[in-house]
Amino acid sequence: MNLFDNHGRRINYLRIAVTDRCNLRCFYCMPENGIQFVDRKDLMSFEELLRTIHVFASVGISKLRITGGEPFARKNIIEFLKEASKIQNVEQIHITSNGTFDNGIIDELSSIGIKSLNISLDSLDKDRFYQITRKNLFDKVYSNYRALLESNIDVKVNMVVMDGKNIEDIYPMLELAKKDKVSIRFIEEMPFNGTDGRGNASFWPMKKILDFIQSEYKIEKIPDPEYSTSYNYRIKGFKGSFGIIAAYTRTFCGTCNRIRITPQGDLRTCLYGDSVLNIRDLLRSGINDEDLLNHLKIVLNQRAKNGFEAEKQISRVNQSFESMASIGG
Ligand code: 5AD
Ligand code: SF4
Repeated sequence: MNLFDNHGRRINYLRIAVTDRCNLRCFYCMPENGIQFVDRKDLMSFEELLRTIHVFASVGISKLRITGGEPFARKNIIEFLKEASKIQNVEQIHITSNGTFDNGIIDELSSIGIKSLNISLDSLDKDRFYQITRKNLFDKVYSNYRALLESNIDVKVNMVVMDGKNIEDIYPMLELAKKDKVSIRFIEEMPFNGTDGRGNASFWPMKKILDFIQSEYKIEKIPDPEYSTSYNYRIKGFKGSFGIIAAYTRTFCGTCNRIRITPQGDLRTCLYGDSVLNIRDLLRSGINDEDLLNHLKIVLNQRAKNGFEAEKQISRVNQSFESMASIGG
């Protein structure tokens, strides 16, 4: 069975933020002293999440992304991944992590069959890494990156492109893709950093990032995977590739196949919109699977056309006070 929204877009991809907690404090995501973290009892339990995945997979959700916060900051996450991977119709599980995990888990992830791991790495320079993440963990992340390359898990590197912070890292980051079979993804910065903004730093839209790269490298467009949010390119002779994600310019809404669940069980049909349903509350009220699916279908029938429409409808006072850790990047 397939799920479609009111604009004819097929929905087959569920992103689950399993926690809003994190051991880093990336300034584009949250303030130095953190955010108001969700109370543990208010988190979706793993049992609740597995049941939700099971129900959603029965109608066509086949791809999962586990995010946070930092997903490996949640206890028993490996067990959860193991169980999720056994659910019928779940074909692919991907993870987005800050890369600070114990490297022992790489073998476990690989035996569970995790398809890819996206690591957030915004600088290859220790000092700038510290300035951005406010923690001194560059070496750990980099060594996990190298270890992942040796595994059978695909590796992507996410770099949020930020004026005044890491523009000087763009070229070195591309150089990584020369010898490593990695996909580097340059992401437009979104104003979800848990504060009221970024002062007068200027925004780097996709085009500016691309021009900056093209002024130094001869690049070639490569086909984008179906439903891709990135525009992908390669550089002649490079083993890896790179992509640009127009996270703020939002050029990918037309093919959006994604829905998200926040740590406390809010379902969002758009990253830029309000929560449309609380799954945790429905489950705790004793709802049956069929009614849960009906709720899902109703909200998919009222889905905003794109991120701009969704944003217009929101009731939150100041969206930028939200943290990406509460929504799941
Ligand atoms: N803008 C763009 N990307 C962000 N991420 C987190 N916060 C932001 C933001 N404000 C991305 C990071 C990380 C993923 C979890 O979400 O790239 O890799
Ligand atoms: Fe943590 Fe990721 Fe937010 Fe950085 S972006 S503080 S690594 S959740």
